Order: sequence, then structure tokens, then C-alpha cells
Amino acid sequence: MLLEGLKRLEYRGYDSAGLAVIQDGAIQSEKVVGRVSQLDELVDDRFTGVLGIAHTRWATHGGVTVPNAHPHFDEKHRIALVHNGIIENYHALRELLLKKGHKIVSETDSELIAHLIAEYMDGNVVAAIQRALTHLEGTFGLLILTLEDPNRLIAVRQGSPLVLGIGDNEYFAASDVSAFAQHTRQVVYLRDGEMAELTPTGYRTMTFADRTVVRRPDEITWEIDAIEKGGYDHFMLKEIFEQPSALRNTLAARVRADQGLARLGGITAYSDDQLRSLERVIISACGTAWHAALVGEYMLEELARVPTEVEYASEFRYRNPIVGEETLAIFISQSGETADTLAALREAKAKGAHVMGICNVVGSTIATEAGTGSYTHAGPEIGVASTKAFTTQMAVMTILALQLGHLRNLSLETYSTILNDLVKIPDLIERVLETDPQVREIVPIFEHTTNCLYLGRGINFPIALEGALKMKEISYVHAEGYPAAEMKHGPIALIDENMPVVVIAIQDPVYDKVISNIEEIRARKGRIIAIATEGDDRIASKVEKAIYVPRVAPLLTPFLTVVPLQLLAYHVAAAKGCDIDKPRNLAKSVTVE
Ligand code: G6P
Repeated sequence: MLLEGLKRLEYRGYDSAGLAVIQDGAIQSEKVVGRVSQLDELVDDRFTGVLGIAHTRWATHGGVTVPNAHPHFDEKHRIALVHNGIIENYHALRELLLKKGHKIVSETDSELIAHLIAEYMDGNVVAAIQRALTHLEGTFGLLILTLEDPNRLIAVRQGSPLVLGIGDNEYFAASDVSAFAQHTRQVVYLRDGEMAELTPTGYRTMTFADRTVVRRPDEITWEIDAIEKGGYDHFMLKEIFEQPSALRNTLAARVRADQGLARLGGITAYSDDQLRSLERVIISACGTAWHAALVGEYMLEELARVPTEVEYASEFRYRNPIVGEETLAIFISQSGETADTLAALREAKAKGAHVMGICNVVGSTIATEAGTGSYTHAGPEIGVASTKAFTTQMAVMTILALQLGHLRNLSLETYSTILNDLVKIPDLIERVLETDPQVREIVPIFEHTTNCLYLGRGINFPIALEGALKMKEISYVHAEGYPAAEMKHGPIALIDENMPVVVIAIQDPVYDKVISNIEEIRARKGRIIAIATEGDDRIASKVEKAIYVPRVAPLLTPFLTVVPLQLLAYHVAAAKGCDIDKPRNLAKSVTVE
């Protein structure tokens, strides 16, 4: 059960793995550097206990070694724990424990917690842990078992996700529901500053000060096959192909072309007057979600004519941003747990901005803390490289831009054009997915290159960035995204006959300009791959390969142009034998700063 759960969670971090169970009056454990499958081989059927903990690691403090893998123990091997997060007063704690004579065997901050609990252990496990917690600064999601009380598992949450699963005479705790979703659909999301004790007969949730907290379980709404590969070789490919259905879910009940409706129910906390009088929008996110934010910026400025800025969440929080009640601050996050995005949200709230979360994971911290916002409803995304989360985030941004535009002088004609095209997007993506065989033909151009360039203009500039990110993160080919016209101010120096350049050259108002950029690359013998509009008969003669996407309102082209770029990155990575769903050094959700 533990290994199965770990496999489901592996996408969140995967440099080492370990588990511990209480068995025959002792804590038995095993750890490996590498994947859960290696741990599985090692463990075999040896463990038979009924209480255990397990972990996959994404290294923060200390290298990727067996001693640094979790679980960690106190000196007497009577306490075992797994930890997500970072203990910020690590140095002071380590000094203190060393002075007290503790023998510390790893370089991690996590091990110190076990030693600290041992300091306070006098038979009452919960009380000892609560006293130890008062010394910890930083973020921690903890699962702890002890020999003092071999029937009790303690779960602690501070700044790192933790959810309980309430089964039939069995109880679970994990950082993500997918770890135990096949055993129970009843879940209790712990909040920061809360902990829980689980025994074979029940559970109790309480604060760190031991005040009981009563919370009704929520129910998981998705089906278990959402976290299975369903016949695909990789989750990423499955998720690319799921985009039409994911988008249908995002649009459902929010967009009705026949009724002229585009409305996010999640922002009704703000009155029409408040939305009409907004002076500014700030969107903050990390990684792929940041690219969705950039697309959102174009949409909001174009349709709602509201000045919009996009900030990396990690930068936003440290630069004393100018935000107040005239600002709508939007935070986009697939996982809803990214530490930097969460901190940026808290900063904006503290400054009095209207806030809105756009998250995929229901019950996640950003969704909960934002209070107001919309879920993308893409279903679980497991591949580390984000795909369906991205397109559904763009869809929410489009609806928001239409909704604000409607309140703020957007012409009915433009409103209807965009709305009518938006509802067609899922079907159009289905057509783009049919270009998969043509995308595969391009793979040899990239398979042996170490560099490539992605160019786009206007609303397709963020798609150039996203295409480049997909390529570098899963196939390890260095890829740069650039605004097409900026190329001549630097990257043009890199172009020669070995440099593949992917150009998004759809027929929109800047098409002719992009064709000029293509000529500039041709003159320097670059190998050009174009993402073009169906029916464009000019482009084929100018480029080595063209992939055609259907014609749609220019503002909505990102939904279509990004898909061949996702497929391209996927097939290049597959041809190179890369670990597509778990690219090296990355993690799906980064819950540390
Ligand atoms: C990590 C993932 C990316 C993701 C980013 C933001 O870096 O590898 O795929 O885009 O985090 O994650 P979020 O969950 O906040 O969207």
C-alpha cells in the first residue's frame, strides 16, 4: 500500500525514496537513491506491519544520498518521520542538538525534527511532538510514527500540503490525495497550524496547541482512471490528448454561446461595480502558469482594456509591489501549492488587493487562501511538464477577459466573435492533435541538436516561451523563446545551418512581419519549422516544415499553436530516451521557496 501510494506521488519529487513500518516491536525501514521501483525491488514482500510511512525526495538540504533519504530517525530508532518543506532555523537547531550530544547522521534539516521530538518524549507522543513544533521555523508537512505508541500516526501541517483519507477502518495521510484515492474518496484537508492523530479505530484533528478542530470530510470528485496512464506510454502524452475534454470541463456552465454567456461563478464575491472600477490587474505565477498569465495579459488588455502586468511570483513578493484595493491580483497555479505563488498571494492580500486564484487542484492551499477564484477543472495532471493545465488556465483567463470586457465597453460584436470561437476550441484542438504524425516527422531535426529557438509575436510570444520551456525541460535541448522581431537584437547571431528555429506564423495582423523575420532566418540558413494557418499557401516554400492549425480569432490562436509544440517536445524527448514524466531535477509542485 505504501509503495503504491509512493508511485502515485513520485511525480512530486523522485531523487530518492524510503519507507518505514512498525513491525515486531521495532521500526523497520529501507531507503534507496533512485526511483520507487528500486525501493520496491529491495523491499519485496518483507514488510507486513499495519502502520507505516513513506517518502520520495526532491533534495533541498543535503545531496542525493541514502542517509539523506527519508524516513529519518532519532538516535534510538524509536521515532521515524518523513518531512516535506524546509526548516529555516536549521543551523541553530543543529548546533543545539550537537551540543546536547546528539549523533546526527544526515545533512538534512528533516532529521533534526526526529531528534528534537526525542528530547521531549516522555510517553505522551502528541504532547512531545507539540512541544518540539514550537522550536521549528519554516515549512513542514510531517508524518511521524513512534515505538512509544505503535498504533498512532501523527500528521502535521505547516506550509506544506497534507490531506487525510478517511477509509473503512483504515486511515491515510499524504501530501496529495492521489496517494490513497484508490482506497477512499473521503478526505479531510488539514490547514496550516493543524495536526492529526490517526489510529486503527479513528482520527482526531487539532491545532498545535491541542485544541480539537472538527471538520467534515470532502469527497474526491474525479474517477481513479484520471490518475492512470490509460494506454498511453506517458502521462504527458495522455494529458496532451485530454486537452479537448479538459477544456470542455473548464468551459461547461461558464460559457454558453447561444445565450451570449461568459461568466466565472467563482468571482461573484466582487460586485459588477467593483470589477468595472478596477484600475489594474496583476497576474502572478511560476513556470508554465506564468506563460498562461502572459497570454491572460494580452486578453485582458485587448478585451477589457484594463492595464495588466505579469510578475514572476518569486519576484513579486520581494519587491514591495504597488497594489491596493483598485487592483485585482490573480494567482495562477496548477497545483495550488507552489510556495512562491502562495507567498505572493499572501503579500497581495496583506496589501488590500482584490485577489483571485486560478487553480487546478481542488482544496489546494492557494485556492483556499484566495477564497475567490476559479478552478480549471482539468482533472489530475501527473506529467511534470504541464500541458492541459496550461490550456485550461488560458481558458479561464479568456472567460475572465470577456466577463470584464462585457462590463467595460467591449463591443458586442467582438464579444460574440470571441465567445463563438471559444466554444469551438475543444473541437479545433482535436483537429490539431491529428497533426501528430507530421510533428513526428520533424523530430530528426531536433534529435541531435543542442540548441534551438522559438519565435512568436503578440499573443503567440508567450507560446514561443512555452514551446521552448517544454523542449528544454523534458528533452534537455537548450531552447529559447523570443519575440520574433527581437531576434535581430541578439539571437540572430546564433543562427546557422545547424540551428532549428520554430516560428509561430499564423495569419493574424502581424503575419507579414513574421514572414519578414522568416526571410531573415532563411538568409542565414537557419532550419525553419513553422506553425501556420490552414490554407496558407505562401509559407510552405519558405520553410523546411510547416504544421497547420485551423483558423480562429487571432486572440484564441494560442490554444491551437501550443499543441504541436507540446507534441514536438514530447516526441523529441521520446526519441532521445528521456524520462518524460519525470525529467531530471524537476518536480511537479515546488512547495519550497
Ligand atoms: C514546477 C513545474 C512546472 C509548473 C510550475 C508551477 O516548476 O515543473 O510544470 O509550471 O512548477 O506550478 P503550479 O503548480 O504553481 O502551476
